[in-house]
Amino acid sequence: MRQAGRYMAEYRAIRQKHSLLEICAQPELAAQVTLQPIERIDVDAAIIFADILLPLVPMGIDLEFAVGEGPVIHNPIRALADVERLRVLDPEEAVPATLQAIRIVSQELPEDVPLIGFAGGLFTVASYMIEGGSSRNYVRTKQLMYGEPETWSLLMERLTDMTSRYLHGQVRAGARAIQIFDSWAGALSPRDYRAYVLPHLRHIVASVQDLGVPVIVFGTSTFGILDLLASSGADVVGVDWRVDIDQGWARIGNDHAVQGNLDPVLLFAPRDEIERQVRAILNQVANRDGHIFNLGHGILPHTPVENVQFVAELVHRISERG
Ligand code: CP3
Repeated sequence: MRQAGRYMAEYRAIRQKHSLLEICAQPELAAQVTLQPIERIDVDAAIIFADILLPLVPMGIDLEFAVGEGPVIHNPIRALADVERLRVLDPEEAVPATLQAIRIVSQELPEDVPLIGFAGGLFTVASYMIEGGSSRNYVRTKQLMYGEPETWSLLMERLTDMTSRYLHGQVRAGARAIQIFDSWAGALSPRDYRAYVLPHLRHIVASVQDLGVPVIVFGTSTFGILDLLASSGADVVGVDWRVDIDQGWARIGNDHAVQGNLDPVLLFAPRDEIERQVRAILNQVANRDGHIFNLGHGILPHTPVENVQFVAELVHRISERG
């Protein structure tokens, strides 16, 4: 999940001087921000500081992070010609700063703290490209998916190509695991996820696994498609807090690892409530191999850092890692 960010004073200090895109464009800064949580919190892995929408810029997408609005795309995809115009470049050319940040962080991290690289999932990235920003009902996205299947397929192919190359670049630069954030995939019915997204996701997962690196796929509100996410071939499926983790795991299957699933808002609760709920998750998974304790979605601004530290220490104390 998101690890760096506005809940940390160190991050806010850097953000006062630089925009999100500036941080991502400067390898030293991106590396510094990636390492901030590792210095403060007893986490087992780091995630490179970037954004799922960043690799769209070299494809020809005009992206801005507008204050208070989130991502805005000024030239959204609306027709076949828009997709045909998208460029797929070599990652060394397209996203050199992110790859360089990965090289720096990989050198700095202790050997037992792997660096996770990531990319956006197909539905989520397509939704930003088509809607031009965040969306509630994904009407334009689904309209294009249902109404212009050729355009949708070509978009999926371009994104699959870009994502596979991007993730290869990250692994070559030093990422030791890959997470695919299809955060809004749960907006699709299982039928539509299977028809319009899953075949393309399978290509991405397989191409990363060819490099011998484990793949985590994650989305929110995904109870209805957990079996499909697992059938992508991913090694790990991430689940949000809207599902009991043992029930989620049953749908995913024992041959996969599972990541999750504390509600990020619980980090604002009193300590005894946090502890009760962390223990409940660990009891549900009963110390089975292949559970990665995590939040069920990204950490929120204003989260008290002490509570994040508390959870990391608690999980290590009471789970078998010790
Ligand atoms: O350290 C880390 O956690 C890695 C960095 C990371 C960011 N974005 C940086 C960022 C990661 C893993 C992401 C993924 C991402 N970006 C997702 C998938 C995960 C999820 O949370 O669902 C999505 C949907 C995006 C798109 C995106 N980026 C949105 C919707 C927003 C605005 C939301 C907000 O809270 O304002 C962003 C901005 C963004 N990307 C921030 C960070 C730390 C916060 C804004 C800031 O610092 O100005």
